Amino acid sequence: MQPDRTISRPMGRVRLVGAGPGSADLLTLRALKAIETADVILFDALVGDDIRALFPARARCVEVGKRGHCPSTPQDFINRVMLKFARAGAEVVRLKGGDPSIFGRAAEERAYLESHGVAVEVVPGITTASAAAAEFGFSLTTRAGARRVVLATGRTLDGASSDWATMANPSTTLCLYMGCADIASISQQLIQAGMPPSTPAIAALDVSRPGSRLVASTIGKIAIDLAREQIAAPVFICIGKACSDATIAGREVSLRRVEGLQAC
Ligand SMILES: C[S@@+](CC[C@H](N)C(=O)[O-])C[C@H]1O[C@@H](n2cnc3c(N)ncnc32)[C@H](O)[C@@H]1O
Repeated sequence: MQPDRTISRPMGRVRLVGAGPGSADLLTLRALKAIETADVILFDALVGDDIRALFPARARCVEVGKRGHCPSTPQDFINRVMLKFARAGAEVVRLKGGDPSIFGRAAEERAYLESHGVAVEVVPGITTASAAAAEFGFSLTTRAGARRVVLATGRTLDGASSDWATMANPSTTLCLYMGCADIASISQQLIQAGMPPSTPAIAALDVSRPGSRLVASTIGKIAIDLAREQIAAPVFICIGKACSDATIAGREVSLRRVEGLQAC
């Protein structure tokens, strides 16, 4: 009998890793270890230069960016690339902004990979809401009246609108991801559902990155305040009583003017 000379490489693994909101020192130790030991890193557009500087020189690094209305890498392509490298035995890191399980497609990618027999591990990250609250001096909940936090998106897969009326309560801290483009319609729906126009609302731009800034406003005015400027940074919007501490801190700064760029 001939010896079996076929060399079968063991299946690799994919780690869906949260990179946090941007600043490298907001990476978790587990995320850093995953990056340092990766053979392949597929990273989002929102992963900034100081985190990219930590990628090991021997790793193959591919940007698979997705930015709102801007051109983006198709999800199907990302799935197939992860699968291809895992099948070749690689330690793959899929590095995402914030936390992978918050508007980060972690469920889709996990389901796809597991259905093809690839082991998946998720490494949580600091989500933008937590980082914005820390940076701009407010708390997402308060014993004095902010008793519920809702993480919502302005954009849905099928284009359907969220049920904003159920969130129209100033005691709810409404954390809005990808909500900048639709803030006029969202704020109007919240007001129509009974939310007082004077309810505090803030927009936090480029949270945890150099040049981060805050626009302090109200739900009645935030769409106008944001429409005045063209925005080239990721924008996180937070609505509710909890944000009043951010406005009281008086840190509002005018938006950066970047000619020719659209909000993404
Ligand atoms: C696809 S979602 C990803 C959210 C991410 N998984 C998280 O947990 O923060 C992208 C949206 O998150 C928000 N975002 C992400 N990073 C941000 C940052 N550094 N500053 C402000 N907003 C940010 C923006 O609303 C952006 O449109």
